Amino acid sequence: MSSNPHETGGPGPAPELFTWEFATDPYPAYAWLRQHAPVHRTTLPSGVDAWLVTRYADARQALADARLSKNPVHHDEPAHARGKTGIPGERSAGLMTHLLNIDPPDHTRLRRLVAKAFTPRRVAAFEPRVQELTDRLIDGFAARGSADLIHEFAFPLPIYAICDLLGVPPEDQDDLRDWAGMMIRHGGGPRGGVARAVKRIRGYLAELIHRKRENLGDEDTDDLISGLIRASDHGEHLTENEVVAMCFVLLFAGFETTINLVGNGLYALMCHPVQHARLQESLAAGETSLLVTAVEELLRYDGPVEMATWRYATEALTIGGQEVAAGDPVLVVLAAADRDPERFGRPDVLDLARRDNQHLGYGHGIHYCLGAPLARLEGQTAIATLLRRLPDLRLAVDHHDLRWRGGLIMRGLRTLPVEFTP
Ligand code: HEM
Repeated sequence: MSSNPHETGGPGPAPELFTWEFATDPYPAYAWLRQHAPVHRTTLPSGVDAWLVTRYADARQALADARLSKNPVHHDEPAHARGKTGIPGERSAGLMTHLLNIDPPDHTRLRRLVAKAFTPRRVAAFEPRVQELTDRLIDGFAARGSADLIHEFAFPLPIYAICDLLGVPPEDQDDLRDWAGMMIRHGGGPRGGVARAVKRIRGYLAELIHRKRENLGDEDTDDLISGLIRASDHGEHLTENEVVAMCFVLLFAGFETTINLVGNGLYALMCHPVQHARLQESLAAGETSLLVTAVEELLRYDGPVEMATWRYATEALTIGGQEVAAGDPVLVVLAAADRDPERFGRPDVLDLARRDNQHLGYGHGIHYCLGAPLARLEGQTAIATLLRRLPDLRLAVDHHDLRWRGGLIMRGLRTLPVEFTP
């Protein structure tokens, strides 16, 4: 008898997850899971058991299911019940009470208050500044003919942008850039370095917020931190600690995600020269409609957030026909859902002009990305400007030589070496 399971009609062995090959290209493994084990219990590299939800319909439903809590107290393994948002060192720095770790009614109150300060209008008014930052970063390497687009471009852009928006004085921004860099450089490494960086950021923010509060009456206090301090809803304000945690989550949630949007996005474009050229032509003709659909498609095709942050079943429930016990952790795999053939035509094909593209790259439900308008602005500005200014941008190394970070929640490249005519 044949030992090949395909010949006997079986699904074959479950793919190995969290290996080096998986980090490089997780999509074949996700295709297998979607088909054969759509809600799949696995042991994560940390030793914690969790359910992976990989089909689009199940993922969307799970993201909006109030029985799946964000609060780690619902985890049945208290020893592991530390911050699970992917924010390293958050517990030791006292930063647990932020949007990604809480449920209604606390979440509703905080989200309503932050929405009063972090408005689409504030983001739209920020556009010239994002353009200026983008051009300044490109000026730094444009004459050289080569660059590492992660370190010289995708990494500094979001941190300077959010610092500006928050109202961090220019002379302090390089410190924040370095501390934030330590957090992701040490992502899977020694916890000590991360915890130290988080503590420094926390200390810095607490002091800055205190100073802003003292000077609220001054004229030039129309920054986001001052907006957060002032925001009020039925007479309620954010407490001092809540403002600190909010600034921290804005810094953190918008940092590695945006690096990965720019990094993964440019990489995907360089791997698809025909579509790359088409986008370039449309930009040269002064059109922006393809740019808008392109950035959404890049988010769907190889988005920055591989899995939504941790959720915990508060009671026994069923997801996609699979029973999940109370206390079980659930990870919604956005990267798998966004390639589901039941939802997207030709899901493994990059189609920059794709319509009907309701991807889950920004999540869904009450925790839907608060920073999506800013992320779109940064992603569109970064990609359009780079394509316009460096028209023959190309990868400077073989695909096999690129390394992915390999974290659980985020998906992004460590480096992206490119060449171009100076
Ligand atoms: C939430 C993706 C950029 C702030 C989320 C979630 C996703 C996401 C998937 C939901 C997580 C979950 O449900 O577990 C992204 C992507 C980005 C991006 C792909 C870039 C391309 C940003 C930026 C900011 C930001 C620039 C702010 C400056 C937040 C916040 C939350 C969030 C505060 C929590 C919202 C809540 O729990 O109510 N983001 N994000 N994000 N994002 Fe983003």
